[in-house]
Amino acid sequence: MLAQAHARAEMLHRVVDLRLGDAQHLNFPDASFDTVVATLSLCSIPDDRAAVAEMARVLRPGGRLVLLDHVASSVRPVRAVQRLLDPLLVRFEGDHLLREPEAAVRAAGLVTDELTRFKWGIVLRLTAHKPIPDKPSSPDAAIS
Ligand SMILES: C[S@@+](CC[C@H](N)C(=O)[O-])C[C@H]1O[C@@H](n2cnc3c(N)ncnc32)[C@H](O)[C@@H]1O
Repeated sequence: MLAQAHARAEMLHRVVDLRLGDAQHLNFPDASFDTVVATLSLCSIPDDRAAVAEMARVLRPGGRLVLLDHVASSVRPVRAVQRLLDPLLVRFEGDHLLREPEAAVRAAGLVTDELTRFKWGIVLRLTAHKPIPDKPSSPDAAIS
């Protein structure tokens, strides 16, 4: 994955600092990033809530979290199928089908700004921010 990222950065003539680490225990100080982006990762990370809590920790106040992942569907029959398949996928692929990042984001103290679901409610795109202490944040908004 890092080799691919290196190749991509070179192709785009970007200077990047790429590091390998455990998302559940990020080796960065508190409040050290403006933005955290995670795509199709929470489905694979064993403790997704710990990972989101770490993302929130390393964000500076006012910083932004951008997530895209496949999650527990908002469509009941689809979710029922996911429930059946989840134990198999977790066992053989380490891929969780019933994750609910919105709850993890809330639990980590972030405020959701935009939440979009598509593909039968399975794919979730979410942006959130870390509130600035003593500055009122608008409540969770723009859910589609
Ligand atoms: C489905 S792949 C997605 C890769 C990439 N984010 C993308 O969008 O193409 C899931 C990735 O999660 C990574 N992963 C699993 N557990 C992790 C952990 N504890 N910390 C960091 N990454 C982890 C895996 O190594 C794998 O690269």
